[in-house]
Amino acid sequence: MTTKIVIDTDPGIDDAMAILFALKAPEIELMGLTTIYGNVHTTLATQNALRLVEFAGRPDIPVAHGADLPLIVPLKSVAAEVHGDDGFGNTNQPTPQGRPLAKPAAQYIVETVMANPTEITLVCLGPLTNLALALALEPRLVDAVAGVVLMGGAATVGGNINPAAEANVHKDPHAADVVFTADWPLTMVGLDVTHKAIMHSDFLADLKNATATTQFLDSISHFYMDFYRRVQPALDGMPMHDPSTIAYVINPSLFITRPAPVRVITDGIAAGMTLPDFHQGWASPNGWTDIPLTNICVDVDVAGLLNLYQKTITRPD
Ligand code: BDR
Ligand code: CA
Repeated sequence: MTTKIVIDTDPGIDDAMAILFALKAPEIELMGLTTIYGNVHTTLATQNALRLVEFAGRPDIPVAHGADLPLIVPLKSVAAEVHGDDGFGNTNQPTPQGRPLAKPAAQYIVETVMANPTEITLVCLGPLTNLALALALEPRLVDAVAGVVLMGGAATVGGNINPAAEANVHKDPHAADVVFTADWPLTMVGLDVTHKAIMHSDFLADLKNATATTQFLDSISHFYMDFYRRVQPALDGMPMHDPSTIAYVINPSLFITRPAPVRVITDGIAAGMTLPDFHQGWASPNGWTDIPLTNICVDVDVAGLLNLYQKTITRPD
């Protein structure tokens, strides 16, 4: 049986890795993409999402344009230094032929999930604005989704946008707090695991000539690899942030998880910080016993994840 997913995304180099990974995976049926600002502005994220489905020969997969701005905080910047001005490492990709759906992302999410009760897993690879808007439109979403798997946050390690916060959560902390405190089956794939799931340059080079897909990923990844080489030389490669969510959907046993309620700090110097209450089992009267548990990924079988990625992404185009 395949897992039906909708991916909410800000493509983005590692978003492209994740989307093409999902499209190649026989275990996954990709129902649609919804877009969000983050690595690029939402208008470009939509163009890049259309470009990816066309590149993959799947122009039938719908793309819905999402929120252009966070719920409350201003959008200060996108991540051109990490992903290039075009989101694909300044590789000058062709303009897509297709157009997004007429309906906005939040409405597409609600309609798709409600039409397929308990069948759709929402996979979120960017700031969580669309998900918070979808919940506001249709609170019954919490019971209708099969699950939510998000790349974001840092429960046991520091942030990447600043010492406190991971980039996706930092860009819309209010939306993230809505998503973390909603009563749905939520898995957090944060920096705790994605800073362990490193792809080294020789691994990328070995994949390069397998298919047109791996050649495309190789061409866009050098910019991303160079960024991490400059700012986090100790990693000695590039973190597989967004592809780790797809690995989780395909094989959750690659991950070790700990359940805990999570709140998001929404202002001050730690805005965007994900704060888990790992002590909630003590049932302290001051604990967050009224907040549903998030399934937090705290460790990963890196070799197993890389092996799954390699096996899947090198399947014939
Ligand atoms: C997250 O931020 C974005 O740059 C990546 O695409 C990923 O979703 C990592 O913090
Ligand atoms: Ca992303």
